[in-house]
Amino acid sequence: VSDQPILFVPGPVEVDEELRHIMAMPLVGHRSSGFKDRVRAVCTKLPALFRTAQHAFFENVPATGLMEAAIRNLVSRRVLHVTAGAFGDRWKQISTACGREADSIGVAWGEANSADALKQALQRAREPYEAVCITHNETSTGVLEALPALARTVRTTAPGTLILVDAVTSLAGTDLRFDEWGLDLAFAGTQKALALPPGLCVFALSERAIAKSATVPGRGFLLDFAASPERFEKAETPATPCVPLVYALDRQLDRIAAEGLDRRFARHLAMRDATLAWAEEHGFAPLVKDPARRSPTVSALSNSGRDGDQLVAKAKAAGFTLGRGYGKWKNDSFRVGHMGDHDVARVKALLAAIES
Ligand SMILES: Cc1ncc(COP(=O)(O)O)c(C=O)c1O
Repeated sequence: VSDQPILFVPGPVEVDEELRHIMAMPLVGHRSSGFKDRVRAVCTKLPALFRTAQHAFFENVPATGLMEAAIRNLVSRRVLHVTAGAFGDRWKQISTACGREADSIGVAWGEANSADALKQALQRAREPYEAVCITHNETSTGVLEALPALARTVRTTAPGTLILVDAVTSLAGTDLRFDEWGLDLAFAGTQKALALPPGLCVFALSERAIAKSATVPGRGFLLDFAASPERFEKAETPATPCVPLVYALDRQLDRIAAEGLDRRFARHLAMRDATLAWAEEHGFAPLVKDPARRSPTVSALSNSGRDGDQLVAKAKAAGFTLGRGYGKWKNDSFRVGHMGDHDVARVKALLAAIES
């Protein structure tokens, strides 16, 4: 697989050689003291990533597992979903599949939700929602929601309502201030801006989310938020995790700390800006009209009448895998996943390949 094209899909993303090398390690037992030290190390380093002084853990599930756990732990009856595309819609579908009463507000694809619309939905509710679910970065459309304003609206309009955030393609790629913004749950899979293979999900929980989960029946075993603090205090994962990936996550958290979060976010913005400048120059229109809401981690661009299959094929022939448009945008657009450990030079090499 050494001639695999470089991944520029919006996840899973390219994984650096050092991290791949770590994952080729001889396996160790997940109940060994060495592994427990690694679990402790990860749990000590994770809070900084979320900018929280509360709790942060990981579990051996794709992000969809956390979307479901969020509902099963933190909503006994009613929840409001704020959706801007396919992943927001999926979360609502999960709530319904869990037997919860799920309301939603939403916008046309390519647009972001407004704090005013959210405020009205909260005020219209016959009783406060237990939680509001927000997709920070909607990967299907490349929209970054104005999360600080949305969270502030929940906090002021419905102070008892929990704020649950899908940070799957925002965490480690753009700012997320868990404590400052008053969030109660945020989660991300390792295969996005954390630039690791899929398999683990990292998540932050507020004290009040943990307290709430203890009151919700039927929340399951593997992802029981009420049990998480004690389990991780003992560095005991409830089941067998992907051991090599935990070692790689530990190393990646050190690498991210060494780069510095702010510098990492600036690098993501620079990759986005390079992509958008190129798109403008070559007549590929960004599908997100409001420049302030264009994602730092994924850009959705219109084919502008060109053959999408050919664009993707050209990129592949030059050694890059490009993302196709998502869902109803599949045939008319493509997506560049400029996240993780990529840099502007590599983004420019990809764009030059498409240009050819
Ligand atoms: C915003 C968002 N939420 C959730 C998911 C689901 O992640 P997973 O496939 O790890 O379950 C994705 C995957 O692309 C995503 O982009």
